[in-house]
Amino acid sequence: MSKVTVVGAGNVGATCANVLVTQSIADEVVLIDIKEGLSEGKAMDIMQTANILNLETRLVGVTNDYEKTAGSDVVVITSGIPRKPGMTREELIGVNAGIVKSVTDNVLKYSPDAVIVCVSNPMDTMTYLIHKTSGLPKNKIIGMGGALDSARFKYFLSIALGANPTEVEGIVIGGHGDTTMIPLTRYAAYRGIPASTLIPAEQLEKVAADTMVGGATLTKLLGTSAWYAPGAASAQVVAAVIGDQKKLISCSALLDGEYGEKDICIGVPCILGKNGIEKIVEFDLNAEEKDLFKKSAEAVRKTNSALSC
Ligand code: LAC
Repeated sequence: MSKVTVVGAGNVGATCANVLVTQSIADEVVLIDIKEGLSEGKAMDIMQTANILNLETRLVGVTNDYEKTAGSDVVVITSGIPRKPGMTREELIGVNAGIVKSVTDNVLKYSPDAVIVCVSNPMDTMTYLIHKTSGLPKNKIIGMGGALDSARFKYFLSIALGANPTEVEGIVIGGHGDTTMIPLTRYAAYRGIPASTLIPAEQLEKVAADTMVGGATLTKLLGTSAWYAPGAASAQVVAAVIGDQKKLISCSALLDGEYGEKDICIGVPCILGKNGIEKIVEFDLNAEEKDLFKKSAEAVRKTNSALSC
């Protein structure tokens, strides 16, 4: 029996719960929110698709009752305020740090062995905050930003290549910020063929640029932060852990010398399995990519310095 808790029944949390249920990723899912009735309503709406879609996963919604989350294998934290048009993810730190800290304390009271997936923004800094305040081993805390950024990269790549999105490869490392993420264009591929040999360099650069502002573009179009891809990317990370899939997914991980950095959570390729981050894979970066990674880490550290932990 696998159990997953999703904290926050806003757009991202509810979408994540919906994907967990519709893809049969867990046996039991608890959606929890502080807003009276919100998670109950979203869970009821989703479960009313059960007969239509032949769903076997059981989803319940609860208001702030953490006892109901007890014994979760994975907990996804989406709590906090989303960004509005024109805002950066970093501007959310003041409000979201307090929320993420108290949610983590509540969650661990009832699920001390859970793997935590952090979605709240600024995501790398919130992941670092959980490391600093929870006392959990570093493999058990996963920031999901790179999974989302890599999905966006592959979306823009598929359009540029005129390819089926499931046939393209691409990975984004670095911070989950408009100026800090690093789409690794050199490693982008279509069925194993380097994308750089298939489309002009300028077009590949445009794919990378569109990826970096992917979230901001949607925030402008929607009037609030995106949710379908963020929710699905969160569920993808959960599936890798619950299913012990050993999949390589870019995630924000606590580094201890990998990629030349220490005491920072930032996006790197990770093998995910039942123990959370089971391995950090060190890609061979060229001088330019190394430089971008260093600058990205500096920017994430600057945001981290606003934390009081
Ligand atoms: C985004 C938010 C979830 O990138 O960070 O859409």
